[in-house]
Amino acid sequence: MLETNTNPLDDPQADPFAIARQAAEQLAEKTGVEKHDIALTLGSGWGKAADLIGETTATIPATEIVGFGKPALAGHVGTLRSVLLPSGKRALVIGARTHYYEGHGVRRVVHSVRTAAATGATTMILTNGAGGIKEHWKPGTPVLISDHINLTADSPLEGATFIDLTDLYSSRLRELAKSIDGSLDEGVYTQFRGPHYETPAEVQMAKTIGGHIVGMSTALEAIAARQAGMEILGMSLITNLAAGIQKTPLSHAEVIEAGQEAEPVISALLARIVAAL
Ligand code: HPA
Repeated sequence: MLETNTNPLDDPQADPFAIARQAAEQLAEKTGVEKHDIALTLGSGWGKAADLIGETTATIPATEIVGFGKPALAGHVGTLRSVLLPSGKRALVIGARTHYYEGHGVRRVVHSVRTAAATGATTMILTNGAGGIKEHWKPGTPVLISDHINLTADSPLEGATFIDLTDLYSSRLRELAKSIDGSLDEGVYTQFRGPHYETPAEVQMAKTIGGHIVGMSTALEAIAARQAGMEILGMSLITNLAAGIQKTPLSHAEVIEAGQEAEPVISALLARIVAAL
């Protein structure tokens, strides 16, 4: 690269798929792993799963791979890890999510998913921390994403690219997850732009139109994963009840704390699901 702060994805003439292929080649070179089978994006509360699913054979700072930007949160170095699963399969663990609210455009948001697909991964596991609309979901509850409502008014697809989104969050993988933990509930994930949390009125709107979970990631990533032909499992950790459903104000600290508390349990659950894939 010519300058350290330029990202080739920001050039509208550039082909984001070619950049993803280049990123995958760099990953193969740096990890020594030619092909990955599964990819996981680990959001708030899910990070420990990386240690539980298998043996990490390489950890690469995301900034060393083309198209990945600097982390948005200070002190948070995004990494890409290659993990050898007990089955012999290889997992790519993405700990470097770019959120839509960062304002770098949707190409950057979905670059990790496109890179994962270019490494050969055919299964994409997308996880996040999110707000719950169903009152009985206590903070710390993991929920399967059954479908989504994309309220960003944006798409990772460019031009007249018509992609079917039926069964976007694979019913096969949801059934598999439920066979591991029969208490897992499901819900429709509603993606808002953020980074502000929703108003209580927006949460009521989400509820009225069929949403059960509110968050700021995942839907755009899932669309890109479907375009790439991957089978998708989506899971949200309910870190708080959504604004107005809980009577107290929301805080980022509360969200982080709920994530940390739930992390050992939900990461172990995710590891059991990955082992069953
Ligand atoms: N809304 C949106 N995103 C979130 C929330 C929420 O309530 N909690 C954690 N991420």
